[in-house]
Amino acid sequence: MKYPDDYINKIICGDCLDIMKQMPDKCVDLVVTSPPYNLKNSTGNGMKANTKSGKWAGAALQNGYSHNDDSMPYDEYVKWQNDSLKEMFRLLKDDGAIFYNHKRRVQNGLIQDRDDILKGLPVRQIIIWKRSGGINFNPGYFLPTHEVIYLIPKPKFKLKPKANAYGDVWEFTQEMKNEHPAPFPVALIDRIIFSTIAEIILDPFMGSGTTAISALKNNREYIGIDLSPEYCGMAKKRITDFMKTNNNKLQIA
Ligand SMILES: C[S@@+](CC[C@H](N)C(=O)[O-])C[C@H]1O[C@@H](n2cnc3c(N)ncnc32)[C@H](O)[C@@H]1O
Repeated sequence: MKYPDDYINKIICGDCLDIMKQMPDKCVDLVVTSPPYNLKNSTGNGMKANTKSGKWAGAALQNGYSHNDDSMPYDEYVKWQNDSLKEMFRLLKDDGAIFYNHKRRVQNGLIQDRDDILKGLPVRQIIIWKRSGGINFNPGYFLPTHEVIYLIPKPKFKLKPKANAYGDVWEFTQEMKNEHPAPFPVALIDRIIFSTIAEIILDPFMGSGTTAISALKNNREYIGIDLSPEYCGMAKKRITDFMKTNNNKLQIA
């Protein structure tokens, strides 16, 4: 595959580390992504089993993803995510940034604030994404209703003028009308993309293509990668439908 022709405005189906390794240094302006959270490798929660009752009953993620069961040994998961982030960082131009969505949690009494995954990366800020609700009903805990977005920039990264007024707590309802088990709300990605002047936006865990849709809405270009042929198909269909509706002339892979 040759950069840029085989990458820009394409959905590429495969392992994102393998694919990113084939891309040249400093070739994208922005990375916006949400990896698998490894939720099924978790102490004492019903996500471990395909249970029909209990606090996670009916959660879309109970079966993991189509080509990733969301259940790696913890150390392996941390290394995978750290390697992936370092590769994303290598791909950033000098004024680029990564917006990396994840969830903090407590396991066996220990706080997983994701320091291990983020080791060696220059996190500048943590944005709170306040969702409208959660699914983890447990009488011993308040219902978790937030996730986080780590802003990991290269030194010259700046927001668009006035975008800093959005503050660092963002409230967006989660996406309901999407068959992917863990989609971003488009409005959340619109906020990120609109806050920057980025032209080429990479999402290495593209899922159903939300980052691509937001890039197109904001007249930017995208590169999408996902391991699952099923989700790549969803993303391509969504992009085709969007372009038909919006009369967009960009070519789709
Ligand atoms: C949290 S979801 C992303 C959802 C996406 N933000 C959306 O709006 O639809 C994580 C995605 O990572 C993908 N994935 C898992 N392992 C991968 C790998 N090694 N390379 C690329 N994608 C992978 C899964 O198939 C899943 O679609």
